[in-house]
Amino acid sequence: MAEKCRGIEAWGSIMWFILLQLLAICLETKGSNVFASGASIIQEHARRRLDDVAGSINVDCGIPENSSYTDPSTDIPYVPDGEYIDTGVNKNITANISSNELPRYVMTVRSFPQGNRSCYTLRPPEGKAKVYLIRATFMYGNYDNLDKLPEFSLYVGVNLWDTVKFDNASHIVNKEIIHVPTMDNIYVCLLNTGSGTPFISALELRHLHNSTYTAKSGSLILCQRLDFGSTTNKIVRYNEDVYDRIWFPYNCPQCALLHTSSTVDSLGSSEFNLPSKVMQTAVQPINADEPLNFEFDFGNPNENFYVFMHFAEVERVQMNQSREFNISLNDLVLGEVVVLQYLRSKTITLQPVRGAKLSFSLYKLANSTLPPILNALEIYLEKIFWQQPTNQEDANAIEDIKSTYNVVKGWQGDPCLPHPSWDGLNCNKNGYHPPRIISLNLSSSGLTGEISPSLSNLKLLQHLDLSNNSLTGGLPEFLSELPNLRTLNLQGNKLSGSVPLALMERFNNRSLSLRLDWNPELCLVSPCKGDQKKSVVVPVVATIVPFVVILTALIVILCIYRRKKVAWMFASFQKEKGSQLRSDNRQFTYAEIVRITNNFSTIIGKGGFGTVYHGYLSDGTQVAVKMLSPTSGHGSTQFQTEIKQEGY
Ligand SMILES: *[C@@H]1O[C@H](CO)[C@@H](O)[C@H](O)[C@H]1NC(C)=O
Ligand SMILES: *[C@@H]1O[C@H](CO)[C@@H](O)[C@H](O)[C@H]1NC(C)=O
Ligand SMILES: *[C@@H]1O[C@H](CO)[C@@H](O)[C@H](O)[C@H]1NC(C)=O
Ligand SMILES: *[C@@H]1O[C@H](CO)[C@@H](O)[C@H](O)[C@H]1NC(C)=O
Ligand SMILES: *[C@@H]1O[C@H](CO)[C@@H](O)[C@H](O)[C@H]1NC(C)=O
Ligand SMILES: *[C@@H]1O[C@H](CO)[C@@H](O)[C@H](O)[C@H]1NC(C)=O
Ligand SMILES: *[C@@H]1O[C@H](CO)[C@@H](O)[C@H](O)[C@H]1NC(C)=O
Ligand SMILES: *[C@@H]1O[C@H](CO)[C@@H](O)[C@H](O)[C@H]1NC(C)=O
Ligand SMILES: *[C@@H]1O[C@H](CO)[C@@H](O)[C@H](O)[C@H]1NC(C)=O
Ligand SMILES: *[C@@H]1O[C@H](CO)[C@@H](O)[C@H](O)[C@H]1NC(C)=O
Ligand SMILES: *[C@@H]1O[C@H](CO)[C@@H](O)[C@H](O)[C@H]1NC(C)=O
Ligand SMILES: *[C@@H]1O[C@H](CO)[C@@H](O)[C@H](O)[C@H]1NC(C)=O
Repeated sequence: MAEKCRGIEAWGSIMWFILLQLLAICLETKGSNVFASGASIIQEHARRRLDDVAGSINVDCGIPENSSYTDPSTDIPYVPDGEYIDTGVNKNITANISSNELPRYVMTVRSFPQGNRSCYTLRPPEGKAKVYLIRATFMYGNYDNLDKLPEFSLYVGVNLWDTVKFDNASHIVNKEIIHVPTMDNIYVCLLNTGSGTPFISALELRHLHNSTYTAKSGSLILCQRLDFGSTTNKIVRYNEDVYDRIWFPYNCPQCALLHTSSTVDSLGSSEFNLPSKVMQTAVQPINADEPLNFEFDFGNPNENFYVFMHFAEVERVQMNQSREFNISLNDLVLGEVVVLQYLRSKTITLQPVRGAKLSFSLYKLANSTLPPILNALEIYLEKIFWQQPTNQEDANAIEDIKSTYNVVKGWQGDPCLPHPSWDGLNCNKNGYHPPRIISLNLSSSGLTGEISPSLSNLKLLQHLDLSNNSLTGGLPEFLSELPNLRTLNLQGNKLSGSVPLALMERFNNRSLSLRLDWNPELCLVSPCKGDQKKSVVVPVVATIVPFVVILTALIVILCIYRRKKVAWMFASFQKEKGSQLRSDNRQFTYAEIVRITNNFSTIIGKGGFGTVYHGYLSDGTQVAVKMLSPTSGHGSTQFQTEIKQEGY
């Protein structure tokens, strides 16, 4: 031993070494089966009528808590949004834009000046895999007195739904999507894209019949929903429309209006449940022999459009009359020949079509006596959502962790997407495949309780930082079983018990960087309390060569005393001039020694040649650091003698 130590007399050297073999052998693993497995909650989905709009989700964003109300013009009961989101601030639109004409739900907004991603969580009772209509409404109303129209992105789940932009401060922007969610929670997210603070006025969700608005794949984004031939020029929605679709009045050029006062579908409606008010009015060409023509320009040549045309005969057709027509869209004849029944609605779903411009023509058949008519029209854009949400196992685990620790960091929506991911999380990118969580940083987050077993489900985790919290309990075994874990920082907690052997092994072979210091209760070397053995002092004898000052030289030794017997471990010192350190040896700079001993704050004894300080290595190993004062010229020799005498 002494021979090995001789090489350390590197008094004036600039580098400093504490060469010590970490004594993993000292460390025993303690059982960590302290964690109960979480019980899964099976949720019963209440059965509701499809058209139960009042019972569906109607959120007036930005109204104060406890200020639910029923809108007198629609009879829809609106609730505040606190239940659906926990970030953002409530704002009123400016007074000079407010007017009685405006729906009440645009009078307030919730705005999100902080965080670049804000997500509402909607949990319809019917759950996933159902057809929902989701509508988000925005009116700027100069709520922030900046007189600057913002622009931001709207996401459903992890996929871009649309961009929200405004023509003016009183422009009410409705974004509507028909969507079949793959998960019970539907996230609606607003993303700050650097062009102004996102905000939202209202958020609504309706459940639709599953055989009505369907695309081959993907979701349907509303482009137009028009009530042709409206006589009132007013929008129609709930409760004239049981699904609360909003129908805008529209009259094409060269069209004549038709209408009936009789109710359409009084004997029972189709699955589209069309509102009679909309179906009672229609248009036909002014010149009965001409086709009915109209067109829309969406400027999206590469997207698929789905068109739903709604018809109902509103005139009494005599025996010697007939109304038969066919439909062409962009010069392609689509759909069947249309034959109508009096006051019975009929919906024709056209084949999906592409084109920047959609030009419709309804042609009277040669043997038809009456011209074509049209009562209502809906045009949707097909949006295929390629991006998949975060890996389900990861997402469940992190949700668990969030609720275990009550994390309030604006952790909303999908953990990883849309970018930026949750504060403190990093995810890998995997094309459109589900992203995985690769790092979690909950440092200084006020965590209490034990280390959550859900962490073991974050299988691809590489970096875990739970430092500077108040975590208690033992170090669970599973931490060593995370195959990719490269850094683990648990410093500054109240952990107790011992360190699992496997974890120490990974630390020792350098596959894991581990920080366990500042856990006063943590036993870093066995035998630990409960082992019914006398507690251990682990002297690390260090010779320190100070940089500017004078001190130094070091030796580190770990050992164990058991009932006055010196049971013990070894420390090896090795330094050959210019040689590489052995991989299991560690070297410390003076600055590190200062940190290890917390600036030499705890004196645990005085040796013949210097003071012994208590400290923690960065992996949490408790050490004693002996300081050798070079002013005592014979110090080095005596130091080594002492080591020899003590049997090192
Ligand atoms: C809202 O109502 C609940 C129950 O009536 C009450 O406990 C809560 O304090 C109210 N909140 C506010 C902000 O008034
Ligand atoms: C919005 O206006 C209402 C009444 O007009 C007022 O009570 C409320 O405090 C205002 N809210 C904000 C956030 O200014
Ligand atoms: C609203 O008031 C602001 C000043 O408070 C004014 O600059 C703005 O022009 C007004 N807008 C309208 C539509 O009257
Ligand atoms: C605001 O924009 C909307 C939509 O473009 C338009 O219908 C409305 O007339 C505009 N209002 C004002 C006051 O300019
Ligand atoms: C938020 O987005 C803006 C603009 O894209 C960017 O400059 C900023 O760094 C982002 N902030 C955070 C916290 O990601
Ligand atoms: C629609 O729902 C019914 C029952 O709710 C189910 O039997 C049917 O398979 C569903 N159809 C589609 C296309 O999902
Ligand atoms: C249909 O019959 C009525 C009389 O019943 C007649 O007045 C009308 O001109 C006929 N219309 C056509 C298109 O034949
Ligand atoms: C549709 O009607 C037009 C005009 O009568 C006719 O030329 C065309 O052949 C019809 N197409 C079909 C598929 O019936
Ligand atoms: C009109 O002609 C079509 C075929 O072009 C036929 O299917 C339809 O039955 C005819 N209608 C009448 C009223 O004759
Ligand atoms: C975790 O976040 C804190 C600040 O909140 C930072 O100081 C620390 O370096 C982070 N840890 C890792 C591993 O990135
Ligand atoms: C530890 O966390 C507390 C709050 O929990 C914070 O005030 C303190 O600055 C943090 N210390 C370090 C070293 O990060
Ligand atoms: C380090 O030790 C762990 C546990 O003994 C082992 O699984 C891993 O393969 C080792 N890694 C290296 C790089 O030796």
